Amino acid sequence: MTQTNRRFLLAKRPVGAVRREDFSFESVPAEQPGEGQVLVRNLYLSLDPAMRGWMNEGKSYIPPVALGQVMRALGVGEVVASNHPAFQPGDHVSGALGVQDYFTGEPQGLHKIDPHLAPLPRYLSALGMTGMTAYFALLDVGQPKAGDTVVISGAAGAVGSIVGQIAKLKGCRVVGIAGGAEKCQYLKDELGFDGVIDYKAEDVLAGLKRECPKGVDVYFDNVGGDILDAVLTRINFKARIVICGAISQYNNKEAVKGPANYLSLLVNRARMEGFVVMDYSKDYGKAALEIAGWLASGQVKSKEDVVDGLETFPETLLKLFSGENFGKLVLKV
Ligand SMILES: NC(=O)c1ccc[n+]([C@@H]2O[C@H](COP(=O)([O-])OP(=O)(O)OC[C@H]3O[C@@H](n4cnc5c(N)ncnc54)[C@H](OP(=O)(O)O)[C@@H]3O)[C@@H](O)[C@H]2O)c1
Repeated sequence: MTQTNRRFLLAKRPVGAVRREDFSFESVPAEQPGEGQVLVRNLYLSLDPAMRGWMNEGKSYIPPVALGQVMRALGVGEVVASNHPAFQPGDHVSGALGVQDYFTGEPQGLHKIDPHLAPLPRYLSALGMTGMTAYFALLDVGQPKAGDTVVISGAAGAVGSIVGQIAKLKGCRVVGIAGGAEKCQYLKDELGFDGVIDYKAEDVLAGLKRECPKGVDVYFDNVGGDILDAVLTRINFKARIVICGAISQYNNKEAVKGPANYLSLLVNRARMEGFVVMDYSKDYGKAALEIAGWLASGQVKSKEDVVDGLETFPETLLKLFSGENFGKLVLKV
């Protein structure tokens, strides 16, 4: 029996925020696997802010999704047919499966996961690209030391919440910037952050003065824009600023807003460095093991926000930009 494959193809390059019309949503028979290929039934898809960037034309760290191509997405799924000796029906895998019901193709880039060790959505959050990003961007680029003050924007989000917990494990004072009382409360009460700044309800600079009386040693930036500029005025000598993302700028119709206060880097002999998680792929296994240990001991908590229905993809993706997601945003296929 041939399965039906519902899939989202990129139809137009979005201008500003993504709209449903930017995709074509179609149902076709699932392609059967050829020699050396596998057929995977997608179970959960990772919705990432980076998807917005992948829809733009132009040079980036990865080629853009071509018009007419299935929208790129990481996901986890179950092998249902295989013409590849390393994969058997029933195996669970993780990789770039696309926004569709079924993936057909070579399994290069797919790796096996064990559904008995963790719930499947966790392989897209703390044990997946999100956790790898938090781990390597903080530890390798941010280089936190015990006693440092670490400030994180997007702190209640998927990456930010893991960053803060790792920084606590390293003995840092951790201050999170997030939108809304509920998220800020969660950071303090559930995750043990030392301070919080609700950027939707208070002036960020005033919050930084209150929560970081000794200045900022590491700033983990997920949002860019005005918040980056505010933090730049509070950094310490030899501070490290990790440019992990700039979600406040991804839907801009005009040029990205750069930091006006960058000369603070000069004054403080500080460093601002970009990060791309894929550069660390050879070390993912080591990081996943350490994170799994922290999860098992309860030292790190992972929160997933699972939304049901492949067909809701465009609207669900927008939750990342309105802040309606609480935890790693995952689409259940
Ligand atoms: N460089 C890499 O290799 C890499 C890899 C993965 C992720 N990233 C980046 O990491 C960042 C976080 O990604 P994630 O997957 O963990 O998403 P997430 O934080 O779970 O979700 C995005 C969050 O961003 C916040 N936000 C949205 N618009 C904002 C704005 N205008 N100003 C301030 N905050 C805003 C919202 O939180 P509030 O409710 O608090 O506003 C929203 O919940 C993104 O910038 C992403 O591109 C980079």
